[in-house]
Amino acid sequence: MKKIKIAFFSIPSKEKSYLNKKFDKKKFDLYFFKEELYESTTSWKEKLSILNEIDVLSVFIYDKVDKKIIDKAKNLKLIATRSTGFNHIDVEYAKKKKISVANVPFYGENTVAEHTFALILALSRNLHKAYIRSQQSNFSLDGLRGFDLRGKVIGVIGAGSIGVHVMKIAKGFGMKVLAYDIKQNHILEELLDFKYVGLDELLSSSDIITLHCPYNEQTHHLLNMNNIKKVKRGALFINTARSGIIEPSALYHAIDSGIFSGAGLDVFEGEELLKEENQMLTKNVPLKNVEALLKRNLLLRRENVIITPHMAFDSHEAIERILDTTVENIIAFFENKNYYKVN
Ligand code: NAI
Repeated sequence: MKKIKIAFFSIPSKEKSYLNKKFDKKKFDLYFFKEELYESTTSWKEKLSILNEIDVLSVFIYDKVDKKIIDKAKNLKLIATRSTGFNHIDVEYAKKKKISVANVPFYGENTVAEHTFALILALSRNLHKAYIRSQQSNFSLDGLRGFDLRGKVIGVIGAGSIGVHVMKIAKGFGMKVLAYDIKQNHILEELLDFKYVGLDELLSSSDIITLHCPYNEQTHHLLNMNNIKKVKRGALFINTARSGIIEPSALYHAIDSGIFSGAGLDVFEGEELLKEENQMLTKNVPLKNVEALLKRNLLLRRENVIITPHMAFDSHEAIERILDTTVENIIAFFENKNYYKVN
């Protein structure tokens, strides 16, 4: 029987050994690439010859699976992304080419929610500033006074798996919870004791605004130069969802003018190129991405902004759950069983 060929991109060596144990080698041939699926890297020729042969392409969020890549993978049957979000894949084009797309819808609602609170607590208690000072043997309290979360209002945009977990943690802190979502679950609303409101009301009433909706055509620039004025002055802004949900100029303006008193950003415009700045020299980077890098560097210099490198999902437990579901998706696909299908 012909073996099923799977290529994994953006795969660290630890994950490689975990995956190696999970597949029956009589049925599957596995190919691992530590680097991203990116055309102009030195190993592109090797990747290209693999793309021609593989049945399954397993990718992560920085591996852009566009029309060009899909056209190159002539035998491709399944794209299995090791993430919840799939906006890095041209799902419509894959569908047209009869290629299925699978994702990992649940693996880390607690994981991402916990990181959301890591950002909130770091900002509310100035942990990042205190850390740097104590490294320099400065133990003064000047400028480190924080604020309580108890009694504050948190506005959750997107009350799905992650958003609901954020609400549960917020309740543990004694916070009041508002939610904005296009779908409403009133039993949940009563059970968790939160309140659905319109977007404008959420913006004007929340002390902390946190994004947990997907990025798509409807949520593109959901927060923008028009509605940013409605934000309660001095609110904290947290984004662990996707950068495109807030218009970049609205984010800079809000931080610059004090509309946001601080921001915790796990996702950032152009982050895929910003992971390693030296890649900018080898990749053909458009000018607008260089601009994004400059803007990030300007933001980074501010004491009230904490940027983390898209790491909210990255806990030991969550990674194992991601890999397990990816393996299950691939095996189920070839056994004609149910899997987490996107298209
Ligand atoms: P989910 O699908 O369970 O929840 C999303 C919620 O957003 C749903 O309740 C949905 O009705 C709502 N929604 C959809 N369109 C909306 C709109 N236009 N306005 C308001 N609400 C809307 O998704 P989940 O698992 O909670 O993940 C949310 C997002 O978090 C993902 O799409 C992904 O982009 C991001 N994420 C980020 C990670 C990180 O490491 N930073 C890791 C995992 C997910």
